[in-house]
Amino acid sequence: MDINIGEIPKIKIAEARKNLSRRGFLDIELDPELDLFAEIEKLKKEKNAILLAHYYQEPDIQDVADYIGDSLGLAQQAAKTSADMIVFAGVHFMAETAKILNPKKKVLLPDLKAGCSLADSAPSELFKQFKARYPNHIVISYINCTAEMKALSDIICTSSNAEKIIESIPGEQQIIFAPDKNLGGFLNKKTGRNMILWNGACMVHEIFSLEKITRLKVRHPESKVIAHPECEEAVLAAADYIGSTTQLLKYTLQDASKSFIVATETGILHQMQKNAPDKTFIPAPPNNACACNDCPHMKLNTLEKLYLCMKYELPEILMEEELRKAALKPILRMLDISKAAGLGG
Ligand code: 13P
Ligand code: SF4
Repeated sequence: MDINIGEIPKIKIAEARKNLSRRGFLDIELDPELDLFAEIEKLKKEKNAILLAHYYQEPDIQDVADYIGDSLGLAQQAAKTSADMIVFAGVHFMAETAKILNPKKKVLLPDLKAGCSLADSAPSELFKQFKARYPNHIVISYINCTAEMKALSDIICTSSNAEKIIESIPGEQQIIFAPDKNLGGFLNKKTGRNMILWNGACMVHEIFSLEKITRLKVRHPESKVIAHPECEEAVLAAADYIGSTTQLLKYTLQDASKSFIVATETGILHQMQKNAPDKTFIPAPPNNACACNDCPHMKLNTLEKLYLCMKYELPEILMEEELRKAALKPILRMLDISKAAGLGG
């Protein structure tokens, strides 16, 4: 019997569907001869799908994406797309944001278990109790949080627009900032506000070793240290430039330096190197020997899972309408303020 390359027996598909909620993705072994890049391009056209990818995705996924960006850029793309299907190569809160903005579109995530340690650090039930202690405060939440957290928030922000969002609030208005204490502390310093901070953090950005960065800098004195504001205060204090992933990328293009020590997830190095092949990018070292500056959640997505999720339209992001509507309001406020400030793509 002739079997076409990539043809999967029906029984295997049925079994993978059955195991989907347990596994988080369609667990089907693919023919290694299948040209996944070509197949993904074909599926995009067939299904009128847009593939949005975050900078922390593996290089192959970035290379096949229609748009690569930071959290703000990705949310803006999701808000304006005319595609019928949004395939989100990122983590759950990002795909969820796309669904909140597009209730009628199909939103897919290659692996439903691609979560976020920062989002996990703010369970909405605990946050509700915390918020009740500050009845006169409004809540600004970083986009790295669940839909339930968003529904408890007044405005959402990302690291690209957080300063502008805070500045849009009258000085006398008290603010709770959640869930990232490092970004919140950085913003308190930058804006001179005294926001109450929820005690959350990202496992990837908390792992950098200041001592090792300092030693690297001695070995590469010409290098600039650039850091994401989710990093700890001591690392931020040692940085020459602090910004969101898009801002870091732009900085490496515009700055005259030829070498950069990069304190954020390593995925971003792919675009940095692509855009400036003559420059050197050194990942900032973690405080032990592991590859902990790779986000284990972001890296759950693979090209194989991406192909399978586009082909079989699973796993899909689904959400209760009441929750969606409640989470939409603070996201729209963010998008309006960003537009007025000319931020994003
Ligand atoms: P940005 O890409 O918005 O800077 O966010 C980084 C991040 O941690 C996403 O999970
Ligand atoms: Fe979440 Fe940190 Fe991974 Fe970003 S890098 S998705 S904040 S765990």
